[in-house]
Amino acid sequence: MKILMLNGSPRKGSNTRHALSAIAQGITKNTSNTVEIINISDVNVGACIVCDACQSNGGNCVRPDDTKAIIDKISAADMLIMGTPVYWWGVSAQLKAVMDKFYSKNSEFKTQKKKLVVVAVGASAVPDTQYTLIHEQFNCIANFLNWEKVLELSFSAHEAGELEKSEEANAELAEIWKKI
Ligand SMILES: Cc1cc2nc3c(=O)[nH]c(=O)nc-3n(C[C@H](O)[C@H](O)[C@H](O)COP(=O)(O)O)c2cc1C
Repeated sequence: MKILMLNGSPRKGSNTRHALSAIAQGITKNTSNTVEIINISDVNVGACIVCDACQSNGGNCVRPDDTKAIIDKISAADMLIMGTPVYWWGVSAQLKAVMDKFYSKNSEFKTQKKKLVVVAVGASAVPDTQYTLIHEQFNCIANFLNWEKVLELSFSAHEAGELEKSEEANAELAEIWKKI
């Protein structure tokens, strides 16, 4: 499988980034799947302005940005692993900007059998309503796009670099490759 990871955290020492990297390490060490991680804060994806230009011009945003390149990578992937810090009970604006750009190719996405994994990291202890809200949002999106949501993960960490110090989280992250 071709696996694409999207990291929605802009933070240095990001806990979300650590979770994705640890999952990627397990996958590349133990399987023949390929993994690419995109840190959304390193690319230029603006908010959708609903001009509909992307619907008729092959998926380019009317504003010159990286929308098409990222949406094309998502289109080519067999599995998408989306990681987000919890911001105000929801996904980060960085990740949401990319999710909104799904609009440019959602008809195509609906015909593609993709698997979806969602990783949410917040300061609050797990379980909590905020993780339920985020995972339920992705359940709806997966249903709409005919994708298969295979796994949802929630971790609690607040300070930068905190998650990688958690032996319990690292043990769980190292085994995720077995579940996908
Ligand atoms: C703008 C903002 C909003 C946040 N909102 C929440 C929240 O609603 N619930 C929560 O548990 N943590 C919240 N946090 C804390 C982050 O989710 C937490 O620090 C997490 O570890 C950040 O992940 P990262 O290191 O990958 O960026 C918020 C942090 C920021 C910066």
